[in-house]
Amino acid sequence: MAGREVKVLSVTSECVPFIKTGGLADVAGALPGALAAEGVEMRTLLPGYPAVMEFMKDAEKVYELKELYGAAAWLLSAKVEGIELLVLDAPHLFARPGNIYLSSHNRDWADNAERFAALCQVACDIAGGALDGWTPDVVHAHDWQGGMAPYYIARSGAQAKTVLTIHNIAFQGIAPAIRAVALDIAAEDFHADGVEYWGQVSALKAGLNYADRLTTVSPTYAEELMRPEFGMGMDGVLRRRRNDLQGILNGIDTTVWSPEDDPMVQNYKSPRGKAKNKEGLRQEFDLPETDGPLCVVITRMTEQKGLDLLLEALPALIGAGGQLALLGSGSAELEQAFLATAADEPNVAVKIGYDEALSHRMVAGGDAILVPSRFEPCGLTQMMGLRYGTVPVVALTGGLADTVIPATPATMPKGLATGIQFAPVTASALTGALTKLTTLYADQKAWAKIQRNAMAHPVGWDSSAKEYAALYQSLVDAS
Ligand code: ADP
Ligand code: GLC
Repeated sequence: MAGREVKVLSVTSECVPFIKTGGLADVAGALPGALAAEGVEMRTLLPGYPAVMEFMKDAEKVYELKELYGAAAWLLSAKVEGIELLVLDAPHLFARPGNIYLSSHNRDWADNAERFAALCQVACDIAGGALDGWTPDVVHAHDWQGGMAPYYIARSGAQAKTVLTIHNIAFQGIAPAIRAVALDIAAEDFHADGVEYWGQVSALKAGLNYADRLTTVSPTYAEELMRPEFGMGMDGVLRRRRNDLQGILNGIDTTVWSPEDDPMVQNYKSPRGKAKNKEGLRQEFDLPETDGPLCVVITRMTEQKGLDLLLEALPALIGAGGQLALLGSGSAELEQAFLATAADEPNVAVKIGYDEALSHRMVAGGDAILVPSRFEPCGLTQMMGLRYGTVPVVALTGGLADTVIPATPATMPKGLATGIQFAPVTASALTGALTKLTTLYADQKAWAKIQRNAMAHPVGWDSSAKEYAALYQSLVDAS
């Protein structure tokens, strides 16, 4: 990129390796490194949850807020694990045990709107010059938790341009209208083209209306979002802003997901790499030996992920000699249903929980990775699968459609296929896909070919980092 470095403040509620509940953390953690190569200097603003504060022991206090939603707060700065972090140390908002979004009984923290509005308020202060010697050209906010930042910045008159990335439209940051004053929303902005959403406040809507540019995490999801079936009530705003909306596909960190030198798995350099990992995985999940494919799933267990469809389709997979190993947590109902199936069926094994190292062993040891999502803005596990020759079986939606080349009578002879896709997203179409999987797996030559194609498919950040850099540059050039 020509010209001087562009300074970007990334505003996010999660970021690896500090705190993670889903793919947003992976993306926020990968962007600074990927973009540095494109001449972008990114700093990442993150809430000071206990897990994050652990990394900030040697941090410097760079800004003080005497009153932020009920108490004083500080902004801490440190470079940790290669990332320039700005952490909002506000114990009254973030020093809480357990899940960063949920209190006990899986309920949202009652003050979530205020917690993340506080983060956005600080982003606005930074955009307005609160830090000595570093003012961002662009503030890049993620999801509803970052949604108020473009609004506060637009209203403050700060020079910074703003980008909002939608990682998942299902989460909209809605709060009752009565909280608008506390959230520092001006009465004249409480309307449908502002921060109002059907009589309530929506932080996501604020971001969608006030950000200079909008992105989402795959080109297909960008199109889907403008349709009522996928827009979850926001499709109208997105249709109105279609010229400012762009889909930029996520990548995965190919240094972390690297089959040749992944410290968490057995060596892939030897041709028996996959076989050894598969054997280990079967032992770990207590699955018997069979001739069929070992399918893995690594997921949050929610409606989005289509796991109820998988429960319905499982008999066909097992009947054809296949197996399932699932790692996940989420809805108590889905957890129970999978545990009950595993108790009855020796070829199904389930681990409830969150386990990064095990997820690597599963991606390495599985033959196929299943992602039957009803909607999937991008999806990362199918890309991890591709990298390790673990063939993805995915629903034809969102980023799943953009990252997998389906095995068809046309793509197979040409050696293009990298996985299996199914549509519509129903139990019967998934059953069909799993049957196709077991047939393909039985044909050793065809299977080896599809694995090779999968492993050769680019899943890193190179081209997407260039797209983000070009987006930032175009905003800076226009100002
Ligand atoms: P989403 O963000 O909707 O949850 P993604 O596929 O984009 O879906 O990202 C999920 C990320 O979280 C991936 O890095 C995946 O490996 C990881 N993950 C999900 N569930 C678990 C789990 N139970 N244990 C370990 N990693 C998990
Ligand atoms: C969201 C989406 C997922 C996407 C991730 C990172 O959590 O559900 O599809 O990959 O964000 O952008």
